[in-house]
Amino acid sequence: MMRDYFAVQPGKALTGETRVPGDKSISHRAVMFGALAQGSTTVRDWLPAGDTEASLAAIRALGVEIDRTGLTEMTIHGGALHAPNAPLNLVNAGTGIRLLAGIMCGQPFASVLDGSEQLRRRPMTRIVNPLAMMGADITATDGKAPLHIQPVALRGIHYHLPVASAQVKSALLLAGLFASGETVLTEPGPARDHTERMLDAMGVDIAVDHANSVITLKPGRTLQPMDFTVPGDLSSAAFLIVAALLIPGSDITLTNISINSTRTGILDVLREMGADISVQKTGLQAGDPVGTIRVRHSVLKGSDIGGEVVVRMIDEFPIFMVAALAAEGKTSVRDAGELRVKETDRLSVMTAELTRMGAHIAESEDGFVIDGPQTLKGARVHGHDDHRISMSLVVAGLVAAGTTTVDDARCAGDSFPGYAETLTRLGADVSVGVYS
Ligand code: S3P
Repeated sequence: MMRDYFAVQPGKALTGETRVPGDKSISHRAVMFGALAQGSTTVRDWLPAGDTEASLAAIRALGVEIDRTGLTEMTIHGGALHAPNAPLNLVNAGTGIRLLAGIMCGQPFASVLDGSEQLRRRPMTRIVNPLAMMGADITATDGKAPLHIQPVALRGIHYHLPVASAQVKSALLLAGLFASGETVLTEPGPARDHTERMLDAMGVDIAVDHANSVITLKPGRTLQPMDFTVPGDLSSAAFLIVAALLIPGSDITLTNISINSTRTGILDVLREMGADISVQKTGLQAGDPVGTIRVRHSVLKGSDIGGEVVVRMIDEFPIFMVAALAAEGKTSVRDAGELRVKETDRLSVMTAELTRMGAHIAESEDGFVIDGPQTLKGARVHGHDDHRISMSLVVAGLVAAGTTTVDDARCAGDSFPGYAETLTRLGADVSVGVYS
């Protein structure tokens, strides 16, 4: 495999305006839900990244015709899915495999869902058990992928999710589309709600009782095709936001970003720590409110983080660790044990890599404590084939003394194609190199 790296030089302020690539969660859903709709769904500003391309290829392997009119634009000719003639390979995409498993359980044909070595390490019993309660014939391999699915009739369930997970919730709602009777889910925390918003827009009978965290889906309606324009991904914007907050003289504006409240925990926490971040709502896209976010360099103060906000910023903890190192005083995070079952164990991997840069981080079972401010020194660190680790370490390099090399630049493309170019356009000194 090609070995590439980010080379990072610190010090330059970030200024100017930019967009970021389309939201990853919405892009996965747009191709899958478009495939289920009766008719042609158009998608604009789609995310052409490693994870979402894997979902798109899987949908094509199910016989769905997709006219790719551009890198970020397509028309999906939805309707019936057909038996694939090989295992579906979701590569590194946890969202891809878990959501598609829900859909596959409801089809009148058998399928096998698989992925990379990395994906094969991630827990699948969290979907396999409740899908089996719906009658699905789905078996994992020691609780992991590959998943083997046989066709059977499904029935709706009443289920309380043990973990706040949008992937689990979505897999069950999607299976519920093909079940007899209603599916009623309660969730322990506000996991992202793109599935609910998008299915509702497509005419599915789905009701959300926000006060009691109950979602009720009744099957039977035909999904209507849609025109989706995917908003910018706040999880990608978060790397630029933290970089601008930490580098003196920075002042950046990010346009067209999803500001769905199930995703904005990072903004709430950083603001509480003293961040100068302003958000102006500008419209609605794919069911999400979108807005313009302006960020200026700020001195941050430590904070205590736990409870529901953790769910609303679950993908942002790797970059948040970098922000916490710069904050004055103590920052402690708890209730974030889910980080251990992402693309990597993000608590231990971030702790280990930032330690190479001179950081002192006390890792706990479900979080960490950082006493700041701490100064980082440039080092050679590793992205571990985890896009959010690799991109967070680039930002750490932008505030460290000396040069930082982040081995494994490719993986940033799993969610943020053009990451180095975007940072460079804003004034940072980041380049991609390849080891010979
Ligand atoms: C996602 C849900 C979250 C998140 C992931 C995307 C989704 O995972 O971490 O990046 O699109 O549904 P969990 O459902 O495992 O929390």
